[in-house]
Amino acid sequence: MNVSIIGAGYVGLVSAWGLTALGHRVSVGEADVGRVDRLKAGETPIFEEGLTELLSGASEKDLISYHSSNAEAVQGAKLVFLCLPTPEGADGRADLSYVESVVDELANAVEPDSVFVVKSTVPPGTAASLRKRLADVGSSARVVSHPEFLREGNAVFDFMNPDRIVIGAYEAEDADLVAGLYDGLETEFILTDVTSAEMIKYASNAYLATRLTMANTLANVCEAVGADVLDVLAGVRLDHRIGPHFLQPGPGYGGSCFPKDTAALITVAEDAGYDFELLRAVIEADDRQRHRIAEKVRQAAGGGLRGRRVAMWGVAFKAGTDDVRESPALRIARLLKEDGAEVVAYDPKASSDELTMSPSALDAVTGADALLVATEWPEFCRVDMVEVAARMKGHRVVDSRNLLDPAQVRAAGLDYWGLGRPGA
Ligand code: UGA
Repeated sequence: MNVSIIGAGYVGLVSAWGLTALGHRVSVGEADVGRVDRLKAGETPIFEEGLTELLSGASEKDLISYHSSNAEAVQGAKLVFLCLPTPEGADGRADLSYVESVVDELANAVEPDSVFVVKSTVPPGTAASLRKRLADVGSSARVVSHPEFLREGNAVFDFMNPDRIVIGAYEAEDADLVAGLYDGLETEFILTDVTSAEMIKYASNAYLATRLTMANTLANVCEAVGADVLDVLAGVRLDHRIGPHFLQPGPGYGGSCFPKDTAALITVAEDAGYDFELLRAVIEADDRQRHRIAEKVRQAAGGGLRGRRVAMWGVAFKAGTDDVRESPALRIARLLKEDGAEVVAYDPKASSDELTMSPSALDAVTGADALLVATEWPEFCRVDMVEVAARMKGHRVVDSRNLLDPAQVRAAGLDYWGLGRPGA
């Protein structure tokens, strides 16, 4: 099938590659001319394991093309995927201006009877309003809601091994057209109305954010009562009704999705007259988690941060990505800096202009009053802790991901403070 993808961001590029891998021909429209040039030259603007090779393979087979004109990109395409950003706007509401302006631009430029497939995360009701928008300008194009569930760092795997494919449509024939793209993939299809499809996306992210916040708050309670949260969760996750995933305590959630989607869902509910108290509590608990970790670092550095140097391992919002959007690491670093600390960071992939970046994990700890492990990169477990102890000025390690082996850290003569663990 000929598919056009508008927006060469994270979702757009992974979907583009995935669709070519399933044998479809894809033309990508992207407003940023520099990005289009880089893509044509075989580079990818995002770090995602294996993606560069896969995209250049698709170019060589002539299955993919890149265009700085959206109108050019949609020529000959029956399906037009909208993979545009929906950032957090005023009052937490999703900003739909990118999606709306592209729909306005393409309403009458697309092929007759083509289908806009909304991949961007949008509030329930958006597809319905886009449908009206198209009808108002006499366009014959239709709208389908088709949310994505890719995780950064695992996106290529997730595309080929989806837990489910959700399609919300007005016409069964449109749903079938989109479902047909995935012939050959073994998965469950959820075919529903557009608003329910949009809601599935928000509900999934809100549920996952709630679940990991439950793990974080359990870690805090374990800390208070002297239990070990890792043993507690090992016992909890074996209940088949609960299951093993998304129960890793940490510094709260970050990335381009959970913070914005939880905030947006609250406003969606509020606009519909419902107070989503539970989700508001989750957002507040999540925010407090970073303050709590900043406080641990303050204690680890001797009770105050003015003039203190804190080494931070990890800047990315999670391991496996170079993405620092809403990164808990950066948000904690800001709290530490507000209190007068100098933060020296190392990350294998990510970087930030806000921090002094070090070339290695060992360089970062030299002269540090405390060490904070902020991202769960496996390579941090392989750093020689005896050398860390020798280089640090202080002797405390705050492990906000429960990543390191406490025994190994303590054997090097350092204090180990995890989350919800004895001695934390
Ligand atoms: C998330 C969802 O998992 C995807 O299904 C969804 O498609 C995507 O948002 C989106 O809406 O586009 P992503 O933001 O890539 O994916 O990252 P996750 O792996 O879900 O992690 C989100 C945050 O939760 C990270 O800060 C991570 O460190 C944290 N987390 C996750 C924990 O602290 N503990 C856990 O057990 C799991």
